[in-house]
Amino acid sequence: KNYDFGLVGLGVMGRNFILNVADNNFSAFGHDLDEEKVNSLIQEGGDTSRVYASTDAKTFVNALSSPRKIMLLVPAGKVVDIVIEGLLPMLDKGDIIIDGGNSFYTDTDRREAYLKEKGIHFFGSGVSGGAKGARKGPSIMPGGDREAYKEVKPIFEAVSAKFKGEPCVAYLGNKSAGNYVKMVHNGIEYGMMQLTSEIYDLLKKAGGLSNEELHNVYTEWNNGRLQSFLVQITSEIFAQKDDKTDGMLVDKILDKAKQKGTGKWTSQNAMDLGIPVPTIDIAVSMREISALKEERIQADALYGRPTPAPIDKNELIKMAEEALYFAFINAYAQGLAQLTDASKEYNYELDLSVIAKIWRAGCIIRAELLEDISKAYVANKDLKNLLLSPLFVDKVQSTVPSARALVSYAAKSGIPVPGLSNSLTYFDAYTSSRLPLNLIQAQRDHFGSHTYERIDMEGIFHTEWE
Ligand code: 6PG
Repeated sequence: KNYDFGLVGLGVMGRNFILNVADNNFSAFGHDLDEEKVNSLIQEGGDTSRVYASTDAKTFVNALSSPRKIMLLVPAGKVVDIVIEGLLPMLDKGDIIIDGGNSFYTDTDRREAYLKEKGIHFFGSGVSGGAKGARKGPSIMPGGDREAYKEVKPIFEAVSAKFKGEPCVAYLGNKSAGNYVKMVHNGIEYGMMQLTSEIYDLLKKAGGLSNEELHNVYTEWNNGRLQSFLVQITSEIFAQKDDKTDGMLVDKILDKAKQKGTGKWTSQNAMDLGIPVPTIDIAVSMREISALKEERIQADALYGRPTPAPIDKNELIKMAEEALYFAFINAYAQGLAQLTDASKEYNYELDLSVIAKIWRAGCIIRAELLEDISKAYVANKDLKNLLLSPLFVDKVQSTVPSARALVSYAAKSGIPVPGLSNSLTYFDAYTSSRLPLNLIQAQRDHFGSHTYERIDMEGIFHTEWE
């Protein structure tokens, strides 16, 4: 009964996380029903006093020091409840369960309340960075039971990614804050992935760039202000040869993108809260459109498409870099604005500067931009939108012309750039002191007596329209 940390679910993430814990001088015990996974972890762990595992839940529970710290890295949904029910009879009051998966935030709130009645601490914690992150240092987003987090803090700080020595983990806020923040992280991730893909499409179709040139362009971008994990892996993808046939792998991959739901949840919840996140919305819709491959093939044959107008390659690359930078800022701005509003709605008490800081390394959306974003929120804790930060005005002002030029070029050329155009539209709408929605109010009042307010007088008005 002396292992510091327990982990249930020895899939790639769980196995890597546990090895990471062990690397940091904590002993860890794993549990999975799959014997193969258990055995291979024991083998890879080497020193059994440091890493051990069992298919037997009782052995697992009995091996952990008190209060038990048990992290679940199992698929979100029912499995989490099943695992909790299985462990519950064997746990003691004061033990701690941490859900490290992409659980829906209301599930986390429900589980916390349920386990609290039984004297068990439970909190949700986002973990980002994929398999490599889990092994070498993820960004970790815990929320909920603050006292319980304190017990786990030394382990999480040790295993997390470090940005200039600072651990990319922090207690984020009340209740399901950890899962909520991770959900929005994934929404931003969807947006950034959609944007990098559209820019690839433009460079390839309009600029005629080869995979080698694309590799070089994305590599160069990754050395500049666009530096980010997603731009970096994009550059690597263009250099990957196909090991099954000739040619490059990227060209052989089916253009149907799958999704596990976190991006969709971000959009759905933003709608529920009345927060506009159009770059994220369209990124979700594009995965859905991508799935309609057979229909797309049919439709492609029915409609003509303009040939892209000639464009100077270097000019295109320069505009693409600026437009991508502009759109990345807008994607972060939307996600962060969602967090700001959700924090009020759900009483999370989030500190956006802390969130931006722990996203600077380890996670999928890590980027040089996050350093500037964290500065913007340090300078103003109550910043309503990144676009309102004086630190961002020049960055946006200087890159928006290229976003405009590319969106109009793409529209004329029949190349879909919905993420970029939604980012631009978001920007144009958000920065318009007067929008034509006075007309919508007039229409609503005209057909349904829904009333309207005026710009020049206080009160609620209704007109008998002629
Ligand atoms: C991360 C990722 C991860 C997520 C994948 C896949 O931060 O490490 O967000 O949690 O599961 O990105 O998500 P989709 O299958 O929905 O694309």
